[in-house]
Amino acid sequence: MTAGQRDRWDSSLYDDRHSFVWRAGAGLVELLSPKTGERILDLGCGTGHLTATIAAAGAEVTGLDSSISMIAQARQNFPGLKFSLADARNFRFDEPFDAVFSNAALHWIHDAGAVVKCVVAALRPGGRFVLEMGVQGNVGRIRHAIEAALTEAGRSSKCPWFYPSAGEYASLLESHGFEVRMAQTFDRWTKLEHPERGLREWFEMFAGTYFEGVPAAERENMLRTIEERLHPELYRDGFWWADYRRLRVESVLPFHDEHWSDSRAF
Ligand code: BEZ
Repeated sequence: MTAGQRDRWDSSLYDDRHSFVWRAGAGLVELLSPKTGERILDLGCGTGHLTATIAAAGAEVTGLDSSISMIAQARQNFPGLKFSLADARNFRFDEPFDAVFSNAALHWIHDAGAVVKCVVAALRPGGRFVLEMGVQGNVGRIRHAIEAALTEAGRSSKCPWFYPSAGEYASLLESHGFEVRMAQTFDRWTKLEHPERGLREWFEMFAGTYFEGVPAAERENMLRTIEERLHPELYRDGFWWADYRRLRVESVLPFHDEHWSDSRAF
């Protein structure tokens, strides 16, 4: 979870009401398949739950996040693990990692090229980059309803998220030297935890920047309108659902050509 300049994260609310974010990431850890003794970086680790899952497999893992609140909560949740406060667009470590892992963080960062450059620099040759993020069309219904309400009110509606297509992201990785072994997109409708306030809590946690500078009363009216419009599509069986669409990628940084010509000699 990477927040850019200001820390807008409420990490206890995140753990309390939005644990689906890291619970849904368990399958991604399986794809990573961490091994005992491997050095792994969890990029955008949030409150550290998946960092701990990776550590439980015997890997030597470091969690990295740019949010002070998330890192503080991660350290409190898992005092035995290493966490580092840093920006995913600008970090470096002295020792290379065997793998970089990232769940539900990269869609917060528009400068994806800067992130991939740092990932390349952090990996050893042969190292892997395994990630999941929102893909093109992610939360499309929610986004459309928010942006329509803001536009109707004569306000700007700048999307805070970066949702590339699978092709765009794979090309970006390839342009930085990765071999993309798997790039998969899929729908994952996500049940929000509170039966009545679920969508409202999701907005508060994740969509706040859309409404910055909107006075409280106007914001409340807007949120009510958005909820009314989304209710027929996103309220089912007594709960709100978010129309998530995911991109999952497994990629590897190949060994250098010199290495291959060396090894072919054997
Ligand atoms: C996501 O995980 O796809 C997501 C999270 C927050 C806002 C938008 C999307």
